[in-house]
Amino acid sequence: MNFQLTEEHLAVQAAARDFAQNDLLPGVIERDTKEIFPEEQVKKMGQLGFMGMMVDPKYNGGGMDTISYILAMEEISKVDASASVCMSVNNSLVCWGLDKYGTEAQKEKYLSRLATGEIIGAFCLSEPEAGSDATSQRTTAEDKGDYYLINGTKNWITNGKSASVYLVIAHTNKDKGHKGINAFIVERGMEGFVVGKKEEKMGIRGSDTHSLMFQDVKVPKENRIGEDGFGFNFAMATLNGGRIGIAAQALGIASGAYELALKYSKERKAFGKEISQHQGIAFKLADMATQIEAARLLCLKAAWLKDNKQDFSLAGAMAKLYASQVAMDTTVEAVQVHGGYGYVKEYHVERLMRDAKITQIYEGTSEIQKIVISRSILK
Ligand code: CAA
Ligand code: FAD
Repeated sequence: MNFQLTEEHLAVQAAARDFAQNDLLPGVIERDTKEIFPEEQVKKMGQLGFMGMMVDPKYNGGGMDTISYILAMEEISKVDASASVCMSVNNSLVCWGLDKYGTEAQKEKYLSRLATGEIIGAFCLSEPEAGSDATSQRTTAEDKGDYYLINGTKNWITNGKSASVYLVIAHTNKDKGHKGINAFIVERGMEGFVVGKKEEKMGIRGSDTHSLMFQDVKVPKENRIGEDGFGFNFAMATLNGGRIGIAAQALGIASGAYELALKYSKERKAFGKEISQHQGIAFKLADMATQIEAARLLCLKAAWLKDNKQDFSLAGAMAKLYASQVAMDTTVEAVQVHGGYGYVKEYHVERLMRDAKITQIYEGTSEIQKIVISRSILK
């Protein structure tokens, strides 16, 4: 067993860290306060190769492994989780799915531009009445011969307004249950496709979360992903990898908060000494460091299994379940270490605390991860 990162991994990590410090940190508080999507920063992420990290270089991707991806996700999430969720959706839910299951024509037309960040993508599974219970969705895709007619509403879609390409999951044949579900590539601008209202959120306020409406949207048959009826399996397979990305996002939020708390605890004095010298604070730092390390190892294990073509769904669910709890615990304690200063925006930890919560909700809530884990260990 080798815990050593390679030269390439260290280089990716350093590049992501520099980018986060130089390009994301300066405006992050304003973007959070005013709910501004980090458009320029996302463009630069594309130029630096962070938007299609694992995509085959034949389609302009980075050809990197999942370990590189989670190292970059961690560094970027330490500073700006709104930018990192955009990155995560594009990399692991949109690019990965197209790279693995798309046709040659779909890859040439869409993937090659998504992988460079020239355009960005969105993944549209959730609906107003169907989130965790994803098979009970109501959006329909009627087979009309050489095209499908899509009708319905999707909710909570990340990159909802900024995306150009949307992977939309819809029922073609309700009688067949999840085997009647298909996945489609829908382009922004297709007639009948409307971007709905933007959600005003507790955290990741820079990310654009929208509802989407589809009214008789004609989608050509060649835009279906995989065989007829493959859509639900496509969504699940894609989410398995996505969950590693969100686990890494949670890890980054936690380690970002920990680093700030560690630094502050060595600067702030109370009762004649640095607060880090009070055991009550030192023990908090010890707990944070230990939990973060455990979360990092779970993320790396899941990424390693994926890179080595082994089943990673259990490991990915465990990584997301645990890392998201660590993100919550660590950010709450980081605010505590900062005292009153932790409660104001300038010190960043209050934002990280608000951002942490979403990692327990999207890409499968913590309860859903426990379903995935328990089904796997009980089967
Ligand atoms: N990996 C691969 N396949 C899976 C799977 C997994 N983790 N989980 C289920 N499947 C497959 C099953 O094998 C089955 O396929 P077959 O019949 O071909 O064998 C099929 O999916 C149906 O499985 P179930 O009968 O177990 O389905 P279910 O209705 O009981 O639900 C569930 C299973 C795990 C709860 C699933 O509905 C689920 O994951 N829900 C959560 C949805 C979710 O994560 N949404 C995220 C939206 S995207 C997002 O959130 C992005 C963002 O924020 C940034
Ligand atoms: P529900 O499914 O209604 O769950 C409510 C509660 O009940 C939760 O605590 C849940 O864990 C619990 N619960 C449900 N079923 C069970 C069960 N069987 N056992 C135990 N507990 C259960 N979706 C997308 O498709 N694409 C996106 O890009 C996207 N981005 C998002 C961004 C944000 C900011 C948010 C808030 C959500 C996003 N989502 C996206 C949706 C997200 O995936 C769902 O919110 C999530 O899957 C939960 O679904 P729900 O909100 O309908 O909650």
